[in-house]
Amino acid sequence: MIHTDPEALLAALAWQVDLGADEAIGDAPVDRFAPPEPVETAEAVAAPSVTKPAKPDSGAPDAATQATVLASAATTLADLRAAMEGFEGCDLRHGARNFVFSDGFAAADLMIVGEAPGREEDREGRPFVGRSGQLLDRMLAAIGRDRTADTAGQGVYITNVLPWRPPANRDPSKDEMAMMKPFLLRHIELAAPRALLLLGNSAMKTLFETERGITAMRGTWHEVAGVPAIASFHPAALLRNGLNKRPAWADLLDLKAKLEATE
Ligand code: URA
Repeated sequence: MIHTDPEALLAALAWQVDLGADEAIGDAPVDRFAPPEPVETAEAVAAPSVTKPAKPDSGAPDAATQATVLASAATTLADLRAAMEGFEGCDLRHGARNFVFSDGFAAADLMIVGEAPGREEDREGRPFVGRSGQLLDRMLAAIGRDRTADTAGQGVYITNVLPWRPPANRDPSKDEMAMMKPFLLRHIELAAPRALLLLGNSAMKTLFETERGITAMRGTWHEVAGVPAIASFHPAALLRNGLNKRPAWADLLDLKAKLEATE
C-alpha cells in the first residue's frame, strides 16, 4: 500500500527516526521487491579469473600523505581547524551534518581524546555533549576539572580521533583513523597539554599503535607526541557496564596525581 496522506507519511518517518534510522545510506531507495540480478552464466563462471591491472599511479598523494602535509603546515589551532575542515580525503564528511573540532579550554594542561561525534555531537558541532558527554563532565568534575573553566589547571580541552560522525554511529574504520591521525598528532602538538587522557579503544589504538584492547591497556602510561598519556574506558562503555567504573575512577585519580606531580 502506498501512503499519500502527509500525516501518515510523517508518522512513518517519525517511527523510523525513533528506531534510530536517522541516516540516508544511499542516494536512491533500495527496492527489496525487485527481481534478483541475473545469475552468472556458465561461461562466465568457467572463465579464468583475470586480475585487474593495478590503477596507474595518478601521481596524486594518498589521503594520509595529504593529511600529513596539511597538518604539518598548520601553525595554530585555527589553521589546523581550517585545514581539517577543508580536507576532502575522508568520505565521512559527506554524511555528517557538522564538523566537530574541539571543545573546552585549548590552553588547559589536560587534553582528552575520544572516538568520533555521535548523533548529538553531529547536531551541535561540539564533542561529548550527549549522554556519554554528560557522564564525562561528571567524571571530570570529580577530579576538579570543568570544560567551561579557563585556567590551565581547572580547564580541559576535548577532541576526537574523527571530526565527522560515522553513519549510524558505526565504529570508525582503521583506514579512517589512520588517515586522520596526522591531524590528531598535530592537534596535540599545537595544544601542548601536560597530560592526555584517551577514552576508549579507537583513541587508544590510534595513538598507542597497538592491537591490544582497552581492558589490557588502560591505566598504563605511554608517551604520545612527547606528552604522557593514559587510556581509560570510554564513558559510553561505562554507561553500558557499570563494573568498569571502579578501574575508570582509579585511572582518573592516577591522571590527577600525574598532573599534580608535574606542576
Ligand atoms: N563519543 C565520543 O567518542 N566522542 C564524542 O564526541 C561523543 C561520543
